[in-house]
Amino acid sequence: MIQAIVPAAGKGERLGSKVEKPYVLLAGIPLIVRTLKMLESVREIDSIILVVSRKWREKVQKKILERYQLKRVTAVVRGGATRMESVYAGLSSLDSKTRWVLVHDAARPLVRGDEVSRLIQSARRTGAVCPGVIPKDTIKKVDGKNWVRETLNRQELRVILTPQVFRRHILMKAYQRAFTQGYSGTDDASLVERMGIKVKVVEGDRENIKITTPEDLLLAEIILKRRLSQADFFVLP
Ligand code: C5P
Repeated sequence: MIQAIVPAAGKGERLGSKVEKPYVLLAGIPLIVRTLKMLESVREIDSIILVVSRKWREKVQKKILERYQLKRVTAVVRGGATRMESVYAGLSSLDSKTRWVLVHDAARPLVRGDEVSRLIQSARRTGAVCPGVIPKDTIKKVDGKNWVRETLNRQELRVILTPQVFRRHILMKAYQRAFTQGYSGTDDASLVERMGIKVKVVEGDRENIKITTPEDLLLAEIILKRRLSQADFFVLP
């Protein structure tokens, strides 16, 4: 059994919106609805655990899940102060039969179903996968005073996206160890890597952008418009 955990408890302050990021409208539909609908279209995923802020814990059922007929979200749990705490809240409410866990940021509504399926297939072969793309820009390391220390080789770098897919027991152990050791990571794979477990990077989709700042919303609307005109994207009311 595969369950998806969708952390959506962040404030999204860099977006500069009064509404919390997951509930901001993207081409007329809340961002979180687009993300969840896309995951619901992936037949390998049995159910979804949605992690929300305290404020939305009560409202999300009526305003989002019922209103947009999201049928495969089987649990709504309250997130924490960090992404790690929020994902761990999701991990703590997995079904006992679940063997594989897929973690996908609510803030990536443009993920495509076939990309998700490809990642799941790859995880079944390797145990732990994340999608990545080669950076377009040159990346330099700098010191505390902004002097360049080193220019990194782009071919050896990957910008890491979600969804990331893991064997349940590996991810659970990785989170528990990270908390015990006081380590904080910005993605799930980094916690698994620290245990000495190999994580495979699979070619990601450059359109699977994370909505962080206002220009990301603009770009996402353009991508959506093009997909709708090509009719390769689900149509929402
Ligand atoms: O902050 P960042 O962009 O890394 O957030 C990635 C995802 O993690 C977002 O979907 C956000 O809602 C979620 N998150 C969360 N709980 C937090 C912080 C972030 O669920 N405390």
